[in-house]
Amino acid sequence: MEEKCVDKKVREETNKILKKYPKQKDELIAILNDIQEKFGYIPKQAQMEVSKYLEITMAEIYGVITFYSRFTLTPKGKYNISVCLGTACYVKGSQKILDRVKERLKIEPGEVTEDGKFSIDEVRCVGACGLAPVFMVNEEVYGNATVQMLDQVLDELCNK
Ligand code: FES
Repeated sequence: MEEKCVDKKVREETNKILKKYPKQKDELIAILNDIQEKFGYIPKQAQMEVSKYLEITMAEIYGVITFYSRFTLTPKGKYNISVCLGTACYVKGSQKILDRVKERLKIEPGEVTEDGKFSIDEVRCVGACGLAPVFMVNEEVYGNATVQMLDQVLDELCNK
């Protein structure tokens, strides 16, 4: 079967990264860090290349990716909006914020807008419970959040 263009690119870029590292299993995290940085997530094709190179199973790689929150299995938008649904935020109405961001961007958590600009994540406590409810744009935390605040932030980002 003909290789998909995107898979080929991922394979080539991943192999460039792999060449920098010795074939040692304890390099796995450093390699995954580079892949995450390069693509914004860890594509399946990249996992396959790593598996061949380090001679470890896909299950082992998957286990590491899902253990560390900095690794993701799906692409993110340029602006990733994370809404906290942890208890403190939830009781202060964060569901309304999540509903609003879904309505505005017309995507569900885990999805990216067609232009690649936005993605949405649901998260469970980001350690800012004193500021509940919170949402984040990439690493920036917005506390005591309201639907109006979210609208304002999205309006600004849309115009960037
Ligand atoms: S529950 Fe939202 S920051 Fe802790």
